[in-house]
Amino acid sequence: MIGLKGLLERRPKLKVLIYAGKGGLGKTTLSAASSLLLSKEKKVLVFSTDPQASLSDVFERDVFGKGEVKIAENLYVLEIDADKRINEYVASIKKKIIDMYKLDKLPPDLEEYIDSAAAEPAMYESAVYDAMVDVVAEGKYDYYIFDMPPFGHGIRMIAMADVLSQWVEKITELRKQAYEYGRVAASLKRAKLTYEDEILNELQYIRNRIVAFRNIIANKETAALMVVVTPERMSILDTEKALEMFSSLGLEAAGIVVNQVYPPELAKRPETPEYIKNKIEEQRKYMDEIKRKFGDMVISVVPMLNREPKGLEALSIIAKELWSPSRALEDYI
Ligand SMILES: Nc1ncnc2c1ncn2[C@@H]1O[C@H](COP(=O)(O)OP(=O)(O)OP(=O)(O)O)[C@@H](O)[C@H]1O
Ligand SMILES: [Mg+2]
Repeated sequence: MIGLKGLLERRPKLKVLIYAGKGGLGKTTLSAASSLLLSKEKKVLVFSTDPQASLSDVFERDVFGKGEVKIAENLYVLEIDADKRINEYVASIKKKIIDMYKLDKLPPDLEEYIDSAAAEPAMYESAVYDAMVDVVAEGKYDYYIFDMPPFGHGIRMIAMADVLSQWVEKITELRKQAYEYGRVAASLKRAKLTYEDEILNELQYIRNRIVAFRNIIANKETAALMVVVTPERMSILDTEKALEMFSSLGLEAAGIVVNQVYPPELAKRPETPEYIKNKIEEQRKYMDEIKRKFGDMVISVVPMLNREPKGLEALSIIAKELWSPSRALEDYI
């Protein structure tokens, strides 16, 4: 296994690492460990939008909604409050409508409609991409580590870019026709055109953001999409599905990290409890399957620690194996 070290040697221009995968397998832990490693040499930002404030938890520092916080030399954490961002966006839309139609307040049914649209998962994803694009565009860091939320492996929405492009084209076309028509019909049409302009602008904005996000993650030289798997049946199945989904979106995972693996030598120790020995046996079987299914894509195997890896010290144990694995994948089988 080449480790994160090998991946960086192969891709010297890499600056964005994205940890995707199902919930609860170790995205946040591995994002934090990666950021710790890379901050030894370069300036790093580790980023999350998890409403559970999991980076705060893993670094044992309350950073949620506080902007970019320095937590060690060269290491910065940004934990975005996505709900707050959505609320601000929704408030701005409501205000636009109120201003446009010179209303005192929004009609209740319209208000309800906008609020329900805001509760859509797509809105949340959109806010996440938005924040990511902003932070990369600013260019203040050498490395960006993205701890993705567990939705659709983090990148489902990019499929929307093409749909939105079509909408935007269609509406632009209709707009052109309306302009021609509008010249004849003169001022009567003006109010309606302004409203359509607003919708078009909004769609165009969302589309551009998704495209910008896709451009960041699709660039194999500068970005690496990492998938976290554990030696369990469901996790392996989910990873297979994730890889298929990535390729259907024209993306390719750069590496797979196997997390929460018991060191096999534990099984030989007499003091190891029976249930852990059984677990190790079971994990061996799945490690074999992982090797057969994902082979060279596996860059590191990270051990299951005997406590939750929280704080810089525990994270550095994870980081060590992630960076340069101490044994071969075969040794876990
Ligand atoms: N190698 C490990 N050894 C022991 N515990 C681990 C290890 N990796 C992760 N954990 C623990 O497993 C739990 C899930 O890990 P983590 O929060 O990193 O997953 P996640 O993929 O970010 O989850 P979510 O999708 O909910 O954000 C946490 O309690 C974490 O401390
Ligand atoms: Mg997490």
